[in-house]
Amino acid sequence: MTKQNLNAGSSGKAKPTTATFAIAVLAAGKGTRLKSRHPKVLHPIAGKTLLAHVVAAASRIVPPAHIFAIIGHEGDRVREALQSTGIRFVEQVEQRGTGHAVKQTRDALHGYEHVLVLSGDVPLIRPETIERVCDFHIANGAAMTILTATPDDPTGYGRVFRKYVDLHPTDEVDRIIEQKSLSGSEGEQREINSGIYAFAVEPLFAHIDKLTTDNSAREYYLTDMAAVLRQAKEKVLALRANDSNEVLGVNTRLELAELDAKLRAKKTRELMEAGTTIFRPETCDIDADVEISADTVIEPFVQLIGRTKIGSDCRIRSYSVITNCEIGNNVLVRPGCIMEDAVVRDGAELGPYSHLRPGSEIGEGAHVGNFVETKKTKLGKRSKANHLTYLGDAVIGEGVNIGAGTITCNYDGISKYKTVIEDGVFVGSDTTLVAPVALGKGSYVGAASCITEDVPPDALAVARGRQVNKANWAAEKRQERVAAKKS
Ligand code: UD1
Ligand code: CA
Repeated sequence: MTKQNLNAGSSGKAKPTTATFAIAVLAAGKGTRLKSRHPKVLHPIAGKTLLAHVVAAASRIVPPAHIFAIIGHEGDRVREALQSTGIRFVEQVEQRGTGHAVKQTRDALHGYEHVLVLSGDVPLIRPETIERVCDFHIANGAAMTILTATPDDPTGYGRVFRKYVDLHPTDEVDRIIEQKSLSGSEGEQREINSGIYAFAVEPLFAHIDKLTTDNSAREYYLTDMAAVLRQAKEKVLALRANDSNEVLGVNTRLELAELDAKLRAKKTRELMEAGTTIFRPETCDIDADVEISADTVIEPFVQLIGRTKIGSDCRIRSYSVITNCEIGNNVLVRPGCIMEDAVVRDGAELGPYSHLRPGSEIGEGAHVGNFVETKKTKLGKRSKANHLTYLGDAVIGEGVNIGAGTITCNYDGISKYKTVIEDGVFVGSDTTLVAPVALGKGSYVGAASCITEDVPPDALAVARGRQVNKANWAAEKRQERVAAKKS
């Protein structure tokens, strides 16, 4: 198998029927209506940029090397964000409209028979639908196939006007009219252009130079290719999407929020169908790429972010925010835990209010309790750090007890140093461990010690001032005070 085939998305298969297809993704526009300093296609919904959603769907149909993103506005940033996907890029230096954008792909598409055009701002498109457009387009020998929909509110979209025969609409398209150019009763037309099309490459580039900027925006509209190709006696067809939700576009912040909510609702529905319990799912924010195994329970107001992966039979209690973590089976996360780039092994218990920072690894059956912060720290099997503790740059063995208020002093203002705590160590409460330092296997540290030197295995270390009891001191003090008041 070639590298290209291996890259062909999670299903791992590139469809041979669409092998002559390239996919072009329009992503060069500025996104003026978002009023943002950042390119529109890099705005995230459900934890992934708009463009990444589109590229993920496209990669299920053709290998990434056959996907061309047309970039322009802040193109370097867009390219960098998508670089790791293996897709290719075509530059549109000046953004003179969607038709002008597709014109730039002429050289890149040399050798392909067909191109499927997707919009970087139409992120809910499903691979199945892309495939349906390709199949319909090929089966009917069309020069252009337009994916259409009839949403409740068509405002803002281009409208598709079909050819009628004996008062009946056919599959053939007469023209597309943009919202701004609608006149009279044309505004009542509810069938919209999704911005997703298939083109036969040869007629597309034979006629694309006929596009003009004769419209109010002074742009080359790709939508005008419908009329241009029809005049050239080429076949232009419309195919209606089964679900109009899938082709909703993002032009405004409101639409961004609406699509984010739709995608998250879909995600929780899929997880529940696959065996995860989610109570009050509408209060949970679960990113598109999160994975959860069966019989795990997610309580209200939980956020699961990025590439978080959770095993089976876990319980994630309310108000926990878990980012890019790997959690095993039977893990209990009590309320209010904040976790990032951490690994938690089977049967561990966390919280309430634990803070696992990047590089934390919590061993099987280990406990991390309230107001415990860990960073770049490995806590071994069945070890416990239950209260008010900071563990940074530490390697902690199995069956260790870390007393309340223990602090690793891992930073001297310039460098970070390591603390090693071997199996079976007992660290008394309120201990400070000044790194670099090591506590040998089975050793014991007296409470309130400030440990600056290594402790040998099985030894007791006590590092604090000795206690002095002054007999009768308090009673004498009180008597003195009473005497002073009287005089
Ligand atoms: C477009 C369609 C409209 C359709 C709607 C569906 C045109 C003229 N209109 O309108 O019929 O109903 O999509 O969502 O095509 N882009 C470039 N280069 C440019 C201009 C735009 O790459 O020069 C990219 C944008 O980044 C965006 C996509 O093309 O990803 C669509 O552009 P946008 O301006 O959002 O078009 P709409 O007004 O939504
Ligand atoms: Ca748009």
